[in-house]
This record gives sequence, structure tokens and C-alpha cells, in this order.
Amino acid sequence: MRTVHWLFIVSTALFVSGIAFVIAAERSTQRAAPAAASAPVTTPVASVRQIMNGIIGPAAKAVFASVGIIVTDAGTEERQPRTDAEWEAVADSAAALSEGGNLLLMGRRAVDKGNWAKISQDLIDAGQVALKAAQAQDADGLLRSGEAINESCDNCHQGYMRE
Ligand code: HEC
Repeated sequence: MRTVHWLFIVSTALFVSGIAFVIAAERSTQRAAPAAASAPVTTPVASVRQIMNGIIGPAAKAVFASVGIIVTDAGTEERQPRTDAEWEAVADSAAALSEGGNLLLMGRRAVDKGNWAKISQDLIDAGQVALKAAQAQDADGLLRSGEAINESCDNCHQGYMRE
């Protein structure tokens, strides 16, 4: 009689803890579901000015400086990336330009869905042309990509920069 009693308690305990496990499992899937279904939340930090000075400006400078003909008293230098590492560094800057364009479209930085969005996209596209040229180690292509990059800077500054 005593043995039966203990068995009853043990089996009841197992049954109850089994239910607890099922409930816990159910709860954790409910909690996990919304996070898995939607994209991670991003929180813009930098102002447009900081993106210009911290990301887009330096990246553009690096791309522009990487190719061209430099004329000095000492003579003419045809500058272009020569080693794989130099080409890769230009590709990195070109990629940063495009991603800088993406940042301009995030959250409240996107001033409007018209010209601002269009010119930001122009910068993204122009950066990608430079990126592809750098990956192909195509100095002429890299040089040509500079014009579209420069145009996107000018177009936006003319319309949206106060001063
Ligand atoms: C879609 C719009 C847009 C594009 C594209 C853009 N800019 Fe700007 N840029 C701005 C705005 C707006 C400001 C003024 C920000 C401020 O002062 O608050 C600015 C300011 C700047 C500044 C000055 C920051 C300062 O401290 O005064 C630099 C440098 C700059 N941009 C570089 C560039 C370069 C280089 C490119 C192209 C490769 C470029 N920008 C493309 C919108 C743009």
C-alpha cells in the first residue's frame, strides 16, 4: 500500500513537470517567433553631416586620389593602383561610398522620397561602378566612374545644402 502511494506521487510529479515543460516550450516559441519573422531593428546614430565627414567624404577622396594624371614640376605621373592590396583598398572605399548612399536613405535622414532618394541612389550606383572597376583592376573604368560620383555629390549639395 505504501509503495503504491509513493509511485502515485512520483508519477504525478512527473506528469506535472511534463506539463510545465510543454508550457515553457510553448512560451519560448511564442517569444522567439516575432523576432525571427521580422528584420533586426536598426537605430540610426549619425547626422548627415557626420556621414559626409566620416564616411562619404573620405571614401570619395580615396577613390578620386587613386587614379589620374598628376602634373608637377618634376614631371607627369600616371597614378593608378598597382598591387592587389591597392586595388582592394580602392574597392573598399567604393563600397563605402555606395553604403554611404544607403545610409542617406535610412530613417529621418531621407529628406524626401523624390530628388533626395534619387540622388542617393545615383551615389549608390556610381559607387558600384567604381567597385566593379576596382575589382576588375580596370584603371580607365575607375577614372570614368569618378564623373558620376562627383555629379551625385554636386546635385545633392546644390539642392539640399544650406549656406
Ligand atoms: C543625397 C544628398 C547628398 C549626397 C548624394 C552627397 N551629399 Fe554631401 N552633404 C549633403 C548635405 C545635406 C550636407 C550638409 C550637411 C549639414 O551641414 O548638416 C552635405 C555636406 C557635405 C560635406 C560638408 C560637411 C561639413 O562639415 O560641412 C562634405 C565634405 C560632403 N557633403 C561631401 C560629399 C561628397 C564627397 C559626396 C559625393 C561622393 C556627397 N557629399 C554626396 C548631402 C549629400
